[in-house]
Amino acid sequence: MSQTAQIIINGKTFELPVTVGSADEEAIDISKFRGQSGVITLDRGFKNTGSCESAITFLNGEKGILRYRGYPIEQLADKSTFLEVSYLLIYGELPTSTELESFAKEITSHTLVNEDIKKILDGFPSLAHPMGVLSSLVTSQTAYYPQSLLPNRPEEEINLSIIRLLAKMPTFAAWAYKKKIGHPVIYPNNSLDYCSNFLHMMFALPADSYEVDPVVANALDKLLILHADHEQNCSTSTVRIVGSSQASLWASIAAGINALWGPLHGGANQAVIEMLEGIKADGGDTKKWMAKAKAKDDPFRLMGFGHRVYKNFDPRARIIKKAADDVLNQLGVTDPVLDIAKGLEEEALRDDYFVERKLYPNVDFYSGIIYRALGIPTEMFTVMFALGRLPGWIAQWKEMREKGEPIGRPRQIYVGENERDYVDTAKR
Ligand code: CMC
Repeated sequence: MSQTAQIIINGKTFELPVTVGSADEEAIDISKFRGQSGVITLDRGFKNTGSCESAITFLNGEKGILRYRGYPIEQLADKSTFLEVSYLLIYGELPTSTELESFAKEITSHTLVNEDIKKILDGFPSLAHPMGVLSSLVTSQTAYYPQSLLPNRPEEEINLSIIRLLAKMPTFAAWAYKKKIGHPVIYPNNSLDYCSNFLHMMFALPADSYEVDPVVANALDKLLILHADHEQNCSTSTVRIVGSSQASLWASIAAGINALWGPLHGGANQAVIEMLEGIKADGGDTKKWMAKAKAKDDPFRLMGFGHRVYKNFDPRARIIKKAADDVLNQLGVTDPVLDIAKGLEEEALRDDYFVERKLYPNVDFYSGIIYRALGIPTEMFTVMFALGRLPGWIAQWKEMREKGEPIGRPRQIYVGENERDYVDTAKR
């Protein structure tokens, strides 16, 4: 028998359907509630609002579970590759070896971008943050592929946009970095795999040969897998809501990149390293900074700590913490901020403030330390997150479209002035 919930307002009872997910998660369906009762539900920051039904990613914040299409993140990070995970997220199943080969080949054949992109890059001042450059370059593709603006395109055309986006994003990301440091851009090398090609475009110089270190390429691949999707977070919800107006894939993903940029979301990885560096420069007194994070009147927060949904541990953070040790050992790198990070974590796990609020290290706490060991500069950290999150955004955009989701349009409670008459300037 289907379940229902009851809401009583001023003595009147309203019966509402309850939707149950595949892992027995329950949700009261309020989509028709306003029509019946005239009342809306209020949920600032959507802390308890399901915006869709999705078959892509399952996570349980209390138990620290994260699965893409049913596969545990631990297994995917250990055994899969970023391209395989991208295929899984976007098309729903792990690819056969032939499917994976042709997917990789298709992506490789679209890595080159229009030469005019260099002129767009020239227009940016060198101070431009690579996230702003990246989102602009992604939006610029609507001018090169104007047919992508049409909302009802055949599946093959949508798929071509998806392949182009996956293929060109590393080129845009690496070129945004080259712009930042004032170096000439490096063209894609299509004999390399996805991550190695990105590293090549980041670090090769026109006159020098550059050998990609497989330790670096593998570590990057794993980090991208860990970031590949995270259900209805801020940037993914942005992608869905922009896409729900039938804006193009490029426009929707560019909006997601901008949403990811903020320090409370993807920008936290850059903020963590800057915070750790700041603590080091200040003498390394972690207790002082812990006290600041706890003080009500101090805006300082321990970056890389806390999560909207994970309330015991973030499974990605566990994998990344171990990977940080492994990668630094393999590369023979010592990073003093790693010790500061571990010290902060130990103190926080013993501290009542953090324990009571269930604040644990999140995916961003240790990722920056790995990126740094791989030679990726701090301002590129959030760009790396965007590269990783891309297949998740695409999968969510595609699912939203295929399900014919309605345009996203929340309501509000108005708390401003009620109607009043206009007053002439002289009388104000
Ligand atoms: N340092 C100190 N106090 C914190 C922190 C922190 N990092 N995070 C939360 N709190 C406190 C907060 O002050 C509040 O305390 P009180 O109940 O006394 O007012 C309580 O914990 C609940 O915080 P909240 O802001 O209501 O929680 P939220 O679910 O709205 O925010 C968050 C989640 C991730 C934005 C927040 O924990 C935070 O700002 N963390 C630091 C930024 C960060 O690391 N972001 C990356 C998130 S993971 C990557 C991603 O998916 O984007």
